[in-house]
Amino acid sequence: MSIAIDHSGKVALVTGSGAGIGREIARWMARAGAAVVVNDIRAGNATATVDLVTAEGGVATALVADLRDDTSIDRLVAGAVEWGGRLDVAINNVGMMAGRSPTRFIDMDGAYWRDLLDQNLVLTALCGRAEARVMMEQGSGVIINVSSGETTRPSPLMSSYGAAKAAINHLTWSMAVELGPHGIRVNAIAPGTTLTEQVEKAFPADHYEAIVAATPLRRETSPSELGRLSVYLASDLARCTTGQLILADAGAFLSRTRPPNLAPNPDPGK
Ligand SMILES: NC(=O)c1ccc[n+]([C@@H]2O[C@H](COP(=O)([O-])OP(=O)(O)OC[C@H]3O[C@@H](n4cnc5c(N)ncnc54)[C@H](O)[C@@H]3O)[C@@H](O)[C@H]2O)c1
Repeated sequence: MSIAIDHSGKVALVTGSGAGIGREIARWMARAGAAVVVNDIRAGNATATVDLVTAEGGVATALVADLRDDTSIDRLVAGAVEWGGRLDVAINNVGMMAGRSPTRFIDMDGAYWRDLLDQNLVLTALCGRAEARVMMEQGSGVIINVSSGETTRPSPLMSSYGAAKAAINHLTWSMAVELGPHGIRVNAIAPGTTLTEQVEKAFPADHYEAIVAATPLRRETSPSELGRLSVYLASDLARCTTGQLILADAGAFLSRTRPPNLAPNPDPGK
């Protein structure tokens, strides 16, 4: 006997899937049979993800949108439904540092805080709202918010990012409570340090090595592991799971060893 996960006939939307973790989530959802809407702010990257999916025999379309614009979120979700006829799975993956560098708590101004909260909490909430409205009409759906392992182990210079992602954990609970009676499950996934192109560029090698050495599994998370986890969480195998934060961090949250501090941002305005 074997058990397979089959998302055939479902439509999945993955925000920010033109690169990194989102791209791998899109690829894995397509490998499991879902028709995937690839959203990104960068048109070339979105198309490149669609090409990767179709090269493997999957089905995907690119919908380019900057989700910092509230109306573009509603247009994106409407476009996804127009393309696929429904919306079964939505993975709210856009987040990160909003173009800011790690900065000491005492140096961050209001603009910095607002950028981080906008890019992570507000954008995720508004995507969830637009997706939930469609799913409530269907009476079914799965939403996965991308949080961070940072919410379990605060690091120096990352307080606004950590707080914004921790707010996503609470948002996930609240969404699960309000949307559960409508047949919608809402969970969050928390990547540990994941070597995407951007992260690779940002981390000095010794910082990365210290992070890896501090995890029980002595490794980083790969983007494809978030893809596999999303395929599972979106499936019937996880049908009784809602309102949970699922860590994919090689056990980093168990570690008592801190990675060395990043050098403070010399220009706190950035
Ligand atoms: N990489 C890590 O180590 C790590 C760890 C924990 C959590 N995360 C979270 O995982 C998610 C993905 O991170 P990643 O490392 O893959 O990032 P990434 O920068 O590699 O990819 C993000 C994608 O989102 C797109 N994007 C950015 N702003 C957008 C906007 N306003 N509208 C539409 N698209 C936009 C970018 O063009 C890019 O293709 C983020 O929420 C991040 O906070 C990442």
